[in-house]
Formats: sequence, C-alpha cells, structure tokens
Amino acid sequence: MIHTAAPAQGPLRGTFNVPGDKSISHRAVLMAAMASGRSRLSGVLGSADVLSTIGAVRSLGAGVEVDPQADGSLSVIVDGWDDRGPVSPRGPVDCGNSGTTARLLLGVLAGWPCEVTLTGDASLSCRPMRRVTGPLARMGATFLLAEGDTLPVTVHGAALQGADHMLPVASAQVKTALLLAGLRAHGTTRVCEPAASRDHTERMLPAFGVPVACDAASLCVSVDGPAGMHTCDLDVPGDPSSAAFLIAAAVLVDGSDVNLPDVATNATRTGFLRVLRRMGAHIDLIPDPSEAREVGSLRAFGGVPLIATTVRAAQVPSLVDEVPMLALVATAATGTTRFEGIGELRVKESDRLGALADSLTALGACVRSGPDWLEVDGPCQLHGATLDSLGDHRLAMTYALAGLIASDAISIRRFEAIDVSFPGFLQALIALGAC
Ligand code: S3P
Repeated sequence: MIHTAAPAQGPLRGTFNVPGDKSISHRAVLMAAMASGRSRLSGVLGSADVLSTIGAVRSLGAGVEVDPQADGSLSVIVDGWDDRGPVSPRGPVDCGNSGTTARLLLGVLAGWPCEVTLTGDASLSCRPMRRVTGPLARMGATFLLAEGDTLPVTVHGAALQGADHMLPVASAQVKTALLLAGLRAHGTTRVCEPAASRDHTERMLPAFGVPVACDAASLCVSVDGPAGMHTCDLDVPGDPSSAAFLIAAAVLVDGSDVNLPDVATNATRTGFLRVLRRMGAHIDLIPDPSEAREVGSLRAFGGVPLIATTVRAAQVPSLVDEVPMLALVATAATGTTRFEGIGELRVKESDRLGALADSLTALGACVRSGPDWLEVDGPCQLHGATLDSLGDHRLAMTYALAGLIASDAISIRRFEAIDVSFPGFLQALIALGAC
C-alpha cells in the first residue's frame, strides 16, 4: 500500500490513548502460556507482531481466547501448559515479522523435550539468531539454523544446565530468552550486559511467581531453576515507542499540544524523552500516583526551537527503537546531531541505519553515516520524495512524520508495515488534527 503523507493541516491538539506496549504484550502472552492455570490479560496490543506470539503459543498447546475490544486492544485469556510443557506442533511455527517472538520462543522451548521449527517473513529470515542459539546451546539445547545463522531454526530442546552469560551487545531479547530458558535449567542462569536494556522481563517474572536477582551496579540479572510459574492477571500500559511518534509530531509542528495518558514510563524505554528534552523540546511527564506500575501521562508541545545533541552509545539501548524518529527531529534542530554506537540498527526489521541515511538524503537533509554512527545537520527544510518503508514499521511511521514538515507530499511504499506495532497510527494523526 502507498500512503501519501501531506504537510500538516494544522497543529496537533488533544488527548490520545496509545495502544498497549509491544514488548510487555509479547512477554505477558508467553509467560501466561508457560504458567500453571488461567491468566487474564487486558490492554494487549492488537498488532501483527503480538498476533504472531499469540498464534505461536496456541500452536504449542496453550489455550488462548482473544476478545478484541472497541479501542483496538485485546483482552486475552491464556491457559498455560505448565508442567506438561509445549507440544510439538504439526508444522513450523510462523513468527511473521517479529524478532521478539522468534528469539523469546527459542528460550522458552530450549528446555523442553520437543522439536519445533520457527520460520518468519523475508525480513525476519535475514536477522541474526546465533546471538540467542549460541548461549542456549551452552546450556544444553541443540539448534539447526539456516545458512547465515538465520531462520528457519529447528529447536531440539533438552535438559538444561544454568550458565553465566556475558552479552557482547545489550539486548533485551537475548537476555529474556536466556532467563526464560533458565526457568527450566538446573542451577543459576545469570545474564550480564554491557549497558542496561529494557527490563520488563525481570519486572514481570516475579508477578508470575519467579524470584529474580538484579544487580544494578554490574548490570547482571539471574534466576534459579527449575522454577514453576503461577498465573497472573495484568493490564498492559501504553507503548512509549508508539507514543514517541506522536510526541515527535507534536514537537515538530508549531502550536501543538498533545496529551498521551497511561503510557509506560520505565526509564529503560524513555531515553528518547531525555534526548528530546536535551534538544529543548517541551515535554511533561506526569506520573500516575494511583498506579503501582511505572505509568504516566506524556504531554508534548510544539513550536519550541530545537538544538542539536550527541546521543552516546551507552544511551542507545534506552532508545534503540526511537533512533529513526530522533534522526528526523534532528533535521529541525540547529547544529549537528550525532548518534554513536547504533550498529544494532543494521539488523533490525531493515538496515535502519542505511535506510535512514538514504531516505533523509532523498528528502534534502544533509546526513553522514558510518558503520555504527549517523550525523544529521539542521535546521533543514525537507522536500517531497518517494520512499520505501522496506516493510519496516518504524521507518514507515518516521517517513509519515517527515511528510508533516516537508514542503511537499511524501509517497511511502509498503506503508502497511505500520500494522506490526501501531495499526491505528494514521487514525491517531487524524484524530489529533495533523491530517
Ligand atoms: C525488544 C528489544 C529490542 C527492541 C525490540 C523489542 C524486546 O531489541 O529493538 O523492538 O521486546 O525485548 P534488542 O533486544 O535486539 O535490542
């Protein structure tokens, strides 16, 4: 589908409830599938990626009832497989476009006596899997990978032994896969990272009855296995990574005033807020005092002059999915904005670093890039162009925001990619008055 993104019709104004957090939705469904008994989940993101996880646990033997709500969210009842474990499905499990589904499932399945093949779409079939299967193999599981260490991957689960893992690159997907495998392993499974990645897994496991030891100073987290899980009812808060696009739109369009309630405000996810504020953007974060969860309202205002900044490698895990949006905002900021240590962007749903450098250049921006860095000069008036999302949801939405501030319309090919994380994105822009 081609979407034509036209310049903003006016400032963005009003309140919008962003859909449920993608990372928390995946984990909630997976953990509920592993638990003993019935879990009730609400506010689950109704996007293609989360539907991949729901389809996967269903084909592995969990009972799943999905009740779509008027706001687009899903209420989901999950009957977990508990001690019976997952069943070997008749055919492969299709993870679609979702790296989180594939990588977390590798950890979930590693400790069970089952043989399961995971497949994915063309984009997911290019993404590296050895970063997960390598450490899981050290714990005792066996994997058959496609050439290039990609999907399809066949998991031969086995009895696991706990192990110490030092990740070369901070990754919540790898950390989570290892911790979930650790629940079936004998002894302690410890995962240490070079920088703090999102910590939803270590926050959610105790709610499912599993104690987790976290050492903030050494960035290590561990579980003792074998460990059973009990059920948990939970409500998924709004996704800060989806909120980020609406905040950026508000910051970029003069006169905007946008309020986004019930968003997850966990510090491991909100690095983009710290960077935007450093650039001068006016964004208020109002914590919700009635909530035990880290949830709050984000209110963003437009028309404040922006200045360039440098995003250092240590900050990247807390904003890894927001770099495309921040790079676009940088075109409106005075000076050179530099992103360091962003090599991981090359192995996301597309080579986001290469695609960003190419597309911002096509829009008239002055951009330089290297293997793991990007520089954007501003301020710069963008013009129209035809761009391809490459099937990458975050690029599609970034290009739609570029359309709001460009002098002419931007045509975006394969715009349907937004369904992966934020199916109602265009409706949100319309509701807020941008188009
Ligand atoms: C995710 C972790 C991040 C992120 C992805 C979701 C997760 O990936 O980019 O969108 O839910 O754990 P990495 O762990 O590979 O950095």
